[in-house]
Amino acid sequence: AQLTAHQSAWDGPKDALPAAIAACTRCPLHCNATQAVTGEGPLDAGLMIVGEQPGDQEDLSGRPFIGPAGQLFDQIATQAGLDRTQAYVTNAVKHFKFTPHGKRRIHQRPNTSEIDHCRWWLDAEIAQVQPKLILGMGATAAEALTGSRDAILNRSGKVEATPSGTPVLLTLHPSYLLRVADPQAKADATAQFRNDLHMAVRMLA
Ligand code: URA
Repeated sequence: AQLTAHQSAWDGPKDALPAAIAACTRCPLHCNATQAVTGEGPLDAGLMIVGEQPGDQEDLSGRPFIGPAGQLFDQIATQAGLDRTQAYVTNAVKHFKFTPHGKRRIHQRPNTSEIDHCRWWLDAEIAQVQPKLILGMGATAAEALTGSRDAILNRSGKVEATPSGTPVLLTLHPSYLLRVADPQAKADATAQFRNDLHMAVRMLA
């Protein structure tokens, strides 16, 4: 799919964006999620970090990347010299998509329609922050930011762009690093992820 430049027509005042996202009913995902999780970080950040969608813990707390994937991200970011507090951290999709399984809630990947509906908010965040660089983590972020569903494994470590021209450095999703079973493959993917984060730091220097 070809994305057109900044489709989001949202033009409310800066401080009203979180409340507007919180009230979103643009797609059915709001029905089952606890709350929308909006981005957090400085509104003048040079770096925007985009993940997929909130996970179980993010859905409950209302903050992005605080669960297992977020903790792994923090650990590797520190090793790569990336200070998360200087970045605006958000997700391509703002509501948690899951299927109930007993007491557990099993993550479901958002589909293209859900990603497209939520681009309204992602575009609004990009327009507000105007980052110099976006770090897109995983296939969903890559699709939301570039419109391309091409395999993320072939694109990580490479710089693409949003339709309006903001550079997008693509990388793996930290949840993928948690899932890889083979120890060598896990170590390789982790090293690649660390390199990509370090590349983001260098690009902003
Ligand atoms: N995974 C994501 O993509 N985002 C979060 O906020 C948490 C886990």
